[in-house]
Amino acid sequence: MQPDGQHGLGLRAIVFRRHHRLHHPHHLLRLYKTRCAAARIVADIGTHCVYAHYKCDTGWQSPSKHIGVLFVYMEFLGDLFNKYGSDKDRNGYTPYYDSLFKNLRSKPVSLLEIGIGTMIPEAYSSMVGYSLPGYRPGGSLRAWRDYFANGTIVGMDVQPDTQFTEERITTHLVDSTNREAIDAALGASTFDVILDDGSHYDEHQFAGLRHMWHRVRAGGYYIIEDLQPWNRLHGEFRPLVKEFVGNDATLFFSEAKNILILSKIIR
Ligand SMILES: C[S@@+](CC[C@H](N)C(=O)[O-])C[C@H]1O[C@@H](n2cnc3c(N)ncnc32)[C@H](O)[C@@H]1O
Repeated sequence: MQPDGQHGLGLRAIVFRRHHRLHHPHHLLRLYKTRCAAARIVADIGTHCVYAHYKCDTGWQSPSKHIGVLFVYMEFLGDLFNKYGSDKDRNGYTPYYDSLFKNLRSKPVSLLEIGIGTMIPEAYSSMVGYSLPGYRPGGSLRAWRDYFANGTIVGMDVQPDTQFTEERITTHLVDSTNREAIDAALGASTFDVILDDGSHYDEHQFAGLRHMWHRVRAGGYYIIEDLQPWNRLHGEFRPLVKEFVGNDATLFFSEAKNILILSKIIR
């Protein structure tokens, strides 16, 4: 992890003295805010806090040896989506994702997102006209990277302007409907979460599921966004999805927020 305030960090470090009574971290933020050179998460404490070792001039420190305990306050997912210009919070997905993932924030989660976010105006499913100000391709990948402090984030897109490499983010120029290209790019990789925010065309969504469902780890999720009422995953494709995942998944459709969540059961 990087120092407070630098790129790629969703963390605020808080140090308080051992005799000080524990309050909610939001209050502590105002009392004792410090800059640490880096933080290494040791354990989760609550939804948005972790207990962490931190680095100062003399190297890595266990906070108990120094002045007290270090909490690291982690930014809310909705704020991260907005910060990087993704429209996911505006589209109402944050409560779904936060409820699924809030206890995994410091785990080494591996997430693949189909649809990185092209800014080529005429491209199919472009972010032009949908993104928040300051958007660059990869907005949601950066939000996921900051949200999962120890996570590995992979993006897949068909447009060349979406390709980049950053800390804990890699991207592939691959069409989610092309099984051979997917297998060549991803090799034997498996994921805790696969999220389809690509073309939003139901045939493509179903093809992606067929090509990548086997890459979801047991206990993981395959999620498809933007299921509008006319989307055939609600209708004629729905029995096909059920037949395809069989007894390996529990399905959740939210018609209010147009999202399909498949959770792969652990046997
Ligand atoms: C809505 S944008 C993704 C936005 C991004 N997830 C975010 O929130 O910052 C959809 C992207 O899907 C890409 N796309 C469209 N069809 C695709 C396909 N078949 N395979 C992979 N990506 C595709 C588009 O090029 C576009 O960049």
